[in-house]
Amino acid sequence: MKRYFIAGNWKMHKTVAEAVSLASELRDRLSDCREKLMIAPPFTALQAVSEVTRGSNILLGAQNMGPEESGAHTGEVSVLMLKDLGVSVVILGHSERRHTYGEHDALINAKVRLALKHGLEVILCVGETLEEREHGALETVIRRQLVEGLRGVEPSALLGVTVAYEPVWAIGTGKTATPEDADTVHAFCRKVVAELYGQEAALRMPIQYGGSVKPENVAALMAKQNIDGALVGGASLKAESFVPIAKFR
Ligand code: 13P
Repeated sequence: MKRYFIAGNWKMHKTVAEAVSLASELRDRLSDCREKLMIAPPFTALQAVSEVTRGSNILLGAQNMGPEESGAHTGEVSVLMLKDLGVSVVILGHSERRHTYGEHDALINAKVRLALKHGLEVILCVGETLEEREHGALETVIRRQLVEGLRGVEPSALLGVTVAYEPVWAIGTGKTATPEDADTVHAFCRKVVAELYGQEAALRMPIQYGGSVKPENVAALMAKQNIDGALVGGASLKAESFVPIAKFR
């Protein structure tokens, strides 16, 4: 049976005390959940949340990292620092990083390779803006983000990669892609991965959907053949909504 990868991206929310409180509730209420689970608190709460999730079935994720191991990089956080805190997954190429902070494919690729080199799992986010979709550029954009994001990643390292399809127009807007629409784009992502790494690797690749996932729409999305999990923003900030998402079946 398929095991889904349900991940919460807390973005720039929660003080340390709030993060510990939510993580503790999730740890207790999701202890019997058999899906693969991850939460990504802000950097400032990683250490405290790490103590809560240690030994549980919830993986600790980071929302970003710097492209170098160390050095004069003011404001950046290194892969080594993340590992030191017990982080095992890192979200890279999120659309907010791409569009608000100007992260380009080459930078994201450097981070992907560095994270994999150090044994972190990577969630590589891809997704088109509404304008790109309306101009018929969806496939061009997704293909470029995948090809450039995975450039130089060895086939053996691909096992550490999950792709997250997050249409930019669906993030935080309450507008979800229809399950059919999302499934079509996921199938396209799989096709691109197959071109790069072969059919078997593409079939193995988990592809999450992200963009206004809620308790009400999660089951219909997860029912689709090419959807293997969810990357949840707003609804991951409360146990009342994240628990039913993780326990959608
Ligand atoms: P929302 O679930 O708030 O739309 O955010 C999705 C997202 O960006 C997760 O990374």
